[in-house]
This record gives sequence, structure tokens and C-alpha cells, in this order.
Amino acid sequence: MARIRLDNIRKSFGALDVIKGVSLDIRKGEFMVFVGPSGCGKSTLLRLISGLEDITSGTLSFDGEAVNRYAPSKRGIAMVFQSYALYPHMTVFENMAFGMKLSGRAKEECKSRVEQAAGMLQLSPYLERLPRQLSGGQRQRVAIGRAIVRDPKVFLFDEPLSNLDAALRVATRLEIAKLHRSMHGTTMIYVTHDQVEAMTLADRICVLRDGIVEQVGTPLELYETPNSVFVAGFIGSPKMNFLTGEFAAPYNAYTIGVRAEHMEIIQQDAAWSGTVIHSEVLGSDTFVYLDIGTGEPLVVRETGVSGHQPGQKLGVSPMHGRVHRFDQSGRALERMSLKGAA
Ligand SMILES: Nc1ncnc2c1ncn2[C@@H]1O[C@H](COP(=O)(O)OP(=O)(O)OP(=O)(O)O)[C@@H](O)[C@H]1O
Ligand SMILES: [Mg+2]
Repeated sequence: MARIRLDNIRKSFGALDVIKGVSLDIRKGEFMVFVGPSGCGKSTLLRLISGLEDITSGTLSFDGEAVNRYAPSKRGIAMVFQSYALYPHMTVFENMAFGMKLSGRAKEECKSRVEQAAGMLQLSPYLERLPRQLSGGQRQRVAIGRAIVRDPKVFLFDEPLSNLDAALRVATRLEIAKLHRSMHGTTMIYVTHDQVEAMTLADRICVLRDGIVEQVGTPLELYETPNSVFVAGFIGSPKMNFLTGEFAAPYNAYTIGVRAEHMEIIQQDAAWSGTVIHSEVLGSDTFVYLDIGTGEPLVVRETGVSGHQPGQKLGVSPMHGRVHRFDQSGRALERMSLKGAA
């Protein structure tokens, strides 16, 4: 278990400033998820925490002790990457035991730890197989198992599921959630591009943008009260609808944002009217894309299957209290509803 504290951490590669002053407190046993656009510095931040990269300035501490100068092996960290580098000529058991053997642990202890981790990850039937005799998801679980047996204080995951197909991602996501619960307070930091992974796994999400922290909060805090257009547009799928100009003016804002699930198609007294461009019928939901004259299609979610046809004219209104307001610089303003509007 470790509480991790980043205090004004900076990292430059030559003249390139990549991490530009990140301060963050990660609690003991917390599941922290890093999200942000490609190139914003998520992997770099993980590598700084693991010790694979040197910190340019600032202090990194574990349980109150500065660890900037500690070698990776002294930090009690295990890292799982996107591409799992298993040893192809070793069995699953040998792959999982390898790091422990190197550190000189007794054979019996290695065996019992591997068996315990294999049980947790449903790998017990495969211990004698070679990596090439496993599916992608099983291989990734071996990579996770190899990290678990080292009994780390901190687990770092860099997009561990991104090479898996949709069904395996869901299954392995559940394994990781279970793992976090069963590892009694092991701190986990997890990088992902996947909205569902971020929302379902995280105790808190840290949204990074161009080397700085844009907002940190629980998944619902970020979903319900994003503090900027950037966070509002980054959290949630499909992306929040943004409207400016004459659409935002009645709300006394420069930009307003409304999520697809917070809009209603109504016949009378609609706030906006538009023409159906396209409907995506997913079975459980239908996403209706409307041209309301903003230049960008407005996405509206309807529950179940709705039968709107392209070309059809529809009225649409944001639900009461669901309009996010932003100023010209993209900062959030207090939420408000139009007087007299639904
Ligand atoms: N060793 C390095 N030398 C020089 N520049 C680097 C190095 N490592 C990373 N960078 C640069 O730092 C920036 C952040 O990279 P990083 O890999 O942390 O991004 P990321 O947020 O993980 O992106 P992605 O989502 O694509 O994985 C990028 O501009 C990258 O080119
Ligand atoms: Mg990365």
C-alpha cells in the first residue's frame, strides 16, 4: 500500500517540456485513472512514477518519503504495458515466476504465489502452456499475473486492454476490477483511452491536457460538473454537444453543452428545431443526428428503437437543469436553466 504524492513534477526531453508542473495526491489503495488526448503525457507520467524516466524537477513521494532518486526496483512498483512481452520459450508458470526467481525467493514460495495469482486470474488450467498457445486475453492476464506475484505496493497499467477485442476487453476489465478489490488496498494507476474503462474502474479520474492536470474527480463529478469545455468534451460518449452564438446567448454563456442523453425530442415549444440527418439504431438506444443550423450535427439519445427518418423535421429541447455553461475561455459557469423554459 502506498500513498503517492506528486508535487509540481516536471519533465523535459531536451528542449521539449512534456510534463509541466503536475501536483496530485493519490490515496492508499485508490484506483486512479489517467485520461487525455494522445501525446498529453500520460505514459511519461507513469514512467516517472515507476522510475523508468528521471524527473526533471519536483518531488515524488511514496508514503511521505521522497523517491525521486530510488531505482525502479526499489519503489515496490509493478507495471503492465499495452504490449505484453512474455518470454515465448517459457511456460505460463515460468513467465509468472521468472521475476521472483531472479529476486532469489524460495521455490515453494514462488510456486504458491504463482498458483494464487493464476487462480485470481483464471489461468490455473494454462500454467504449463507456452504463450503462443494462449489467446490475446489470456496472454495479457499472464502479464498481469507476473506483476501480481511480485506483491507490489503500486500497480501501474498503461492501456493494458487496448490490444484485445471488445468481448475480451469487457472480461478482462471485470478481472481488473475484481483484482483491485481482492488486493486489499494496492494503489493502482491506470491509463486508458476507453470511456467505459475510465468510468467503471476509477475511484477518481485525472484528465490531463498538454502536460498539465485539467481536472481530477470521481467519474460522476467529471460527468456532472466538468470545469471546462475540454473536460466536458472528453468525458462521456458520445461527445457532449456544444453550441455557441445565438444558441448560447439566451443562457447567458459563450458556449453551452448538452449531452445526447439530456435532450428530448418534443413536438411543441421546443428550444431548437432541426432536420434528421441520420439515426444510429443500437437496439438499446437510438442516436439521432439532427441538423439544427449550427454546422455540427446535434446528437440526441432516445431509449430503445426510434423510427425517425432522414429528412424528418423534429423539435428538440435540453432537459431541465442539464445545460452546461461556459465562458469565452472555456471555463465552466454555474449551471442554470432558462427562465420559463422546461
Ligand atoms: N523519450 C522521449 N524523448 C523525447 N520525447 C518524448 C519521449 N517520450 C515521450 N516523448 C514525447 O512526450 C510527449 C508525451 O508522450 P507520452 O507517450 O507521455 O504521451 P501519451 O499521453 O502517453 O500519448 P498516447 O495516448 O498516444 O499513448 C509526446 O509529445 C512524445 O513525443
Ligand atoms: Mg501513452
